[in-house]
Amino acid sequence: MDMSNTIEVRINAVTSEALGILSFELVPTQAGAQLPAFTAGAHVDVQLPDGMVRSYSLFNSQNERNRYLIAVVKDAKSRGGSVYMHEKLKAGEVVRISQPKNNFPLAEGAPKSLFIAGGIGITPLWCMIQRLQDLGRPWELYYCVRTREHAALMPVMQEAGTGGPGKVNFNFDHEPGGKVLDLVPVIAAQAPGTHMYCCGPLPMIAAFEAATASRPPEEIHVEYFTAKEAPAASGGFTVVLSKSEKEAFIPAGKTILDTILDLGIDTPYSCMEGTCGECVTNVLEGIPDHKDVFLTKQDQAANKKMMICCSGSKSARLVLEL
Ligand code: FES
Repeated sequence: MDMSNTIEVRINAVTSEALGILSFELVPTQAGAQLPAFTAGAHVDVQLPDGMVRSYSLFNSQNERNRYLIAVVKDAKSRGGSVYMHEKLKAGEVVRISQPKNNFPLAEGAPKSLFIAGGIGITPLWCMIQRLQDLGRPWELYYCVRTREHAALMPVMQEAGTGGPGKVNFNFDHEPGGKVLDLVPVIAAQAPGTHMYCCGPLPMIAAFEAATASRPPEEIHVEYFTAKEAPAASGGFTVVLSKSEKEAFIPAGKTILDTILDLGIDTPYSCMEGTCGECVTNVLEGIPDHKDVFLTKQDQAANKKMMICCSGSKSARLVLEL
């Protein structure tokens, strides 16, 4: 996380949104101040103790400059960030966050926008829906959760899907008679030109990517919360850093980023699992072994950039613009 440009915010309120989900309202520490503007789909990185940094989508309207809203699902199997936020962060405390960043922008001019949300994946999509509501543009949401007790934002969503340009479909797969939503007919029913967005667990994203494979890539938008695969850590190749004029052998058990940080070279990073895009680095020579979920398939195939926190090398030598 780039600490030179972080923002200090106070937690103004902590609210239970659904079973296992808390929202945090973040406000400027100085009365009357405004937070940096953001666009629908943006996220902020929250700095937690012990160097933990976690990314959370903003889910309030982009018209608001007096606060950011983020939602956190408690996951005991996670690396500890969500448990810390649920158990330790209280209203009144001050935390540092990054500037808002948007790797999942909304195509505002699309003839229709289709949103597929799984669980907490609703947050960036809800921010987009509020924007389309403001613009009066058509949208449709499929919101998939285990049960209605697990569904954050249900009342506001029901209201948004009534009498306006949008439509909301709920799918509760763990309720009696419920089942996992079949995305194939949902996608097949969409007219050409519809922009489609998915944010949710990995199996849902995989089903979405399969169902949209024949659609123009520029109309398909996905945001991952977690890595698809483990970082490349088998090592055994050399990295040449063109700007710092250094060279390092990457040993087994270390990533390129680990090794570069060991050399004392300052380089941006945040999630360390290939989801946030912070560590993107230009590749001048060599073939990366891409493990991230941030770059598009086209970008990965071009091998002109890579995420050094998780990707390795297929060639014996990589020259990076670092
Ligand atoms: S640090 Fe997040 S993608 Fe590399």
